[in-house]
Amino acid sequence: VTVPSHGAASQRHAGDAAAGGRDRPSVPLAVVAEGLEVELVTGEVVRYANLDNAASTSPLSAVADAVDEFLPWYSSVHRGDGLASQVSTEAYAAARAVVASFVSARETDTIVFTRNTTDSFNLLARALPPGARVITFAAEHHANLLPWRSGAVHHLPIPATPDAALEMLEQALGDGFQGPRLVSVTGASNATGELWPIEALAAVAHRHGARLALDAAQLVAHRPVDMRALDVDYLAFSGHKLYAPYGAGVLIGRGDWLDTADPYLAGGGAVRSVSLDDVEWVDGHARHEAGSPNVLGAVAVAAACRAIAKVGWPAIVDHERRLTAHLHRGLASLDGVQTYSMWDGEHDRIGVAAFNLAGCNQRKLGAILSAEFGIAVRHGAFCAHPLMDQLAAGPETRGGAVRASVGVATETEHIDRLLNALVEIRERGPCWTYAALDGRVAPDPDPRTLPRLQALDRCLSGAER
Ligand SMILES: Cc1ncc(COP(=O)(O)O)c(C=O)c1O
Repeated sequence: VTVPSHGAASQRHAGDAAAGGRDRPSVPLAVVAEGLEVELVTGEVVRYANLDNAASTSPLSAVADAVDEFLPWYSSVHRGDGLASQVSTEAYAAARAVVASFVSARETDTIVFTRNTTDSFNLLARALPPGARVITFAAEHHANLLPWRSGAVHHLPIPATPDAALEMLEQALGDGFQGPRLVSVTGASNATGELWPIEALAAVAHRHGARLALDAAQLVAHRPVDMRALDVDYLAFSGHKLYAPYGAGVLIGRGDWLDTADPYLAGGGAVRSVSLDDVEWVDGHARHEAGSPNVLGAVAVAAACRAIAKVGWPAIVDHERRLTAHLHRGLASLDGVQTYSMWDGEHDRIGVAAFNLAGCNQRKLGAILSAEFGIAVRHGAFCAHPLMDQLAAGPETRGGAVRASVGVATETEHIDRLLNALVEIRERGPCWTYAALDGRVAPDPDPRTLPRLQALDRCLSGAER
């Protein structure tokens, strides 16, 4: 494995022969950012190793192609008389149907296009019936913690095992409360990648007359999600984590609460009739989608769903399992590297690993990986503060870590580069100087210049204030 800009480390990570060395991803799904090159502080230019897929993904080329082809036909939906309006209206409706089929939504489910998962949960929180109680686990992303706080919410502690999660939920729901209840839980942890036992949690919830909302923000790009088989009542996810970063997300689920709730947004498109002192709202998705919708975003999400369905889950899951095992095995083999899991032992997980390197705080580690190795990771608490405060407690880490995460375009070389970089940093320290700058750590001096993007330059230059 070649690590640009650094000589041979005295204790290189061995690489993984079984994982295949430097390879092209085995999934035939190209992303737009494939082949992206970045400058290092040393002046070298290397291929970008994007290990930050859990935050956001590059669009699939198939998604960008679909959006590009659609752009000339983009127009207002629903009431425009022009042909482009008809094309746009059809595309928007078809996108809804494609997304519904991708997650096996029930015929009766309402499918609302939102901005992202956060938006979806804020919408669902506003649609809860009066007096409803929400139950979540403390391990959740803030998007599945904060929206519920305007009502009654019960946080269950982080369970020691997936079975303990079921027992905790069983106990919490057995309190005799008779009103409406919603259990809201993630499918895969954005900090550790561990998969939650969704089908079993939904069964417990239903046995007690509660509903279950699945936060599929992480899960949906990495594993098949079948709403009927899992028997989940609501599902939320974001296009930008599903290789469709054009500003759309989705909330899918049972229509009754959604149809009874006040519209999430009040405005055009959500009404049947309006007088100066009265309004009659429509039901269904339109009730919560007032204003001109994000048709491009919806088309992009649908294009991603179709591209993934065409390739098929087995190829994607195999590819990511192989890389995930390589990443975790590699990190576990490195002295001085501590990784974090909620649960002991082997549990299935998507390709996410949170870790710290002794003697190098996470902010600096993230900066070094980027500046000296061209590796993109994320550092911090990943919008899961209660979880990370527990997992990475201690004066050195203070609830933070570095996170590496894989996707369809991840190559074995990216992971080998990370593992080798950690060895180099541990043994020699950084080969550049760094300073705290605006709350982050950055190379100092930083000789790199941001790439010149001509069209962007033309519209943004001179905008500094
Ligand atoms: C598990 C989980 N839920 C919810 C979210 C929120 O997603 P978004 O920022 O797209 O609203 C994220 C984002 O990282 C996440 O990982």
